[in-house]
Amino acid sequence: MLNFQKLHPNFVAEVSPVELRQLHDRETLDEIRDGMDQYAVLVFRDQPFTDPEQLDFARRLDGQLHSRTGAAAIGRSRLGDEALTDISNIDETGGVLAPGDRRRMYSLGNRLWHTDASFVDPPGRYSMLSARVIPSVPVDTEFADMRAAYDALPLEMKAHLEHLLAHHSIAYSRQTLGFEFSEDEKEQLRGAVHPLVRRIPRSGRSALYLASHASRIIDWPVPEGRLLLRDLMEHATQPQFVYRHRWCVRDFVIWDNRATMHRARPFDDAKHRRELRRVTTLDIAQLA
Ligand SMILES: [Fe+2]
Repeated sequence: MLNFQKLHPNFVAEVSPVELRQLHDRETLDEIRDGMDQYAVLVFRDQPFTDPEQLDFARRLDGQLHSRTGAAAIGRSRLGDEALTDISNIDETGGVLAPGDRRRMYSLGNRLWHTDASFVDPPGRYSMLSARVIPSVPVDTEFADMRAAYDALPLEMKAHLEHLLAHHSIAYSRQTLGFEFSEDEKEQLRGAVHPLVRRIPRSGRSALYLASHASRIIDWPVPEGRLLLRDLMEHATQPQFVYRHRWCVRDFVIWDNRATMHRARPFDDAKHRRELRRVTTLDIAQLA
């Protein structure tokens, strides 16, 4: 039996005791899936994953992996597997990326509120981030509970949002920061359309499905759609909906991209080395 200790009034729990690399039994994997339904973000301490172990665990827990990442469109991963996203400030020689390096510019987009892989179809479901090298200065990630944010909307607003669709594009969110793409990259990153409110089948809860990737509301004038998206982002990221995670080495955090947004917080990345690895599963039929 796992213990779930809640870290925020609305969501997020720390789970113990478990060694995820060795975890194969169906009951415990089910307990974790149930925990994801309830808490949307689960924190596991002291999980010394290697890259292959992390990929294997992600498949055991939730099936097929997302590999059409934005980073894959702009260059090959130094890790050699596009399902394993390199969330680090390290180049292929092991040095810290220079401030003007295009890969660093691109990864700065992770500081915008977003949900992973909303710009593809099927979109991302669970993301799993493993902390390999963490500096002594704080390197934090914030998470926002998009179910609580939805629940807190007035009834008229909920009715207004019902059936709306949004277009998500990672080229759009990066362009808002001034990052430019080649025509070929844009072609690979055309984006996808998803409902603005998603019902999560296993929990039955509704969530705002927002991200900085959301570029417009389908069939609406672009400025009007962008203003609605901005208002909703502002609503959903109020302090009462947000948990801030301070990373320690060997932390492993799983979040549900259908139910949360997240953003990286700044640190002096020209000076401090930080390495994390992310694997994201696709939102297709769920394992049971
Ligand atoms: Fe992310």
